Amino acid sequence: MGVLKRPSVIRLLRVRVIVLILIGSGSLCFVLNLKPETTEVSTEAMKDQTLEHFLRQGKIRVNDAADIQWAHAANSKTKITEALQSSAHMIEADILLRGHEPKEPIMAHPPENDSDISLHDWLKVVQASDKGIKLDFKSLQAVAPSMALLDSVRSELRGPVWINADILPGPGGKATPLDPKDFVEAAVTPGSYGDVLSLGWTTGWVAGTENPGYSWEMVREMEAVCWPLTQSVTFPVRAALMSQSFPQLQWLLQQSDRYSLTVWTGQTDALAVEDLLPYRKDIDKTRIYYDLLDAQRAQLRGLPGF
Ligand SMILES: *[C@@H]1O[C@H](CO)[C@@H](O)[C@H](O)[C@H]1NC(C)=O
Repeated sequence: MGVLKRPSVIRLLRVRVIVLILIGSGSLCFVLNLKPETTEVSTEAMKDQTLEHFLRQGKIRVNDAADIQWAHAANSKTKITEALQSSAHMIEADILLRGHEPKEPIMAHPPENDSDISLHDWLKVVQASDKGIKLDFKSLQAVAPSMALLDSVRSELRGPVWINADILPGPGGKATPLDPKDFVEAAVTPGSYGDVLSLGWTTGWVAGTENPGYSWEMVREMEAVCWPLTQSVTFPVRAALMSQSFPQLQWLLQQSDRYSLTVWTGQTDALAVEDLLPYRKDIDKTRIYYDLLDAQRAQLRGLPGF
């Protein structure tokens, strides 16, 4: 019996050791796998990954934000299909809550109050591509339900996500901005650390008059909203108001590596593209996006010194 028992004890011990080794190495792998992942998320939070994404995809060749192309107002089934087929890297669309039941987030620009595509379906379509998205919020009530939808599909989204709203009154601005505190609170969710927050001022521009630029008070107020955030932030600035605002906007960018500018223009603005040259000369090329029409971007790129 004793002779027979011994080998079975040894066998039992051996099985136990193997099981322990398996459990041990399993949990070691688990810990090792988990660690770099968590640190990666927290450092990535500080940095805008947009250019890296398109460089990695081979969609741009150099680290220059002026090479990013934009599609605008992709607020219908037709427009989003066109945008996905275009050469645009980033697709911009507007979001508000549908005016009637079901009051879900839809792709529409005021004064529209309905759309043939909801945010839910729009995100489904976008998932098939590696383009980035810029969601422009026109209503505060739409932000929380939209962020919840976004968080539910994050693992499927392959491109950068930008979350945009006008949150402060700016030069010539007549529209009412979304409340900055409420907007930021709703836009910052557990899943949103890698998002770029695009935080702007309401603006106006009138032909044939002297249009004021961004004041010191305006940039300081924006910096007060943004310094406590950990996400990267881009400030959409209206091209026709930029030549009057160089010291202010340069100061704003100097306040954090997380900050960048996104130049945009109104449909009817008289834009003197050479007014943008000081920005090109004195500010890092990775820190100014040009959310312009392709023809305008081409005009810019044609300037000597751009
Ligand atoms: C939506 O817009 C239409 C047309 O502009 C208008 O007649 C309707 O009253 C609006 N609906 C709501 C709920 O605001």
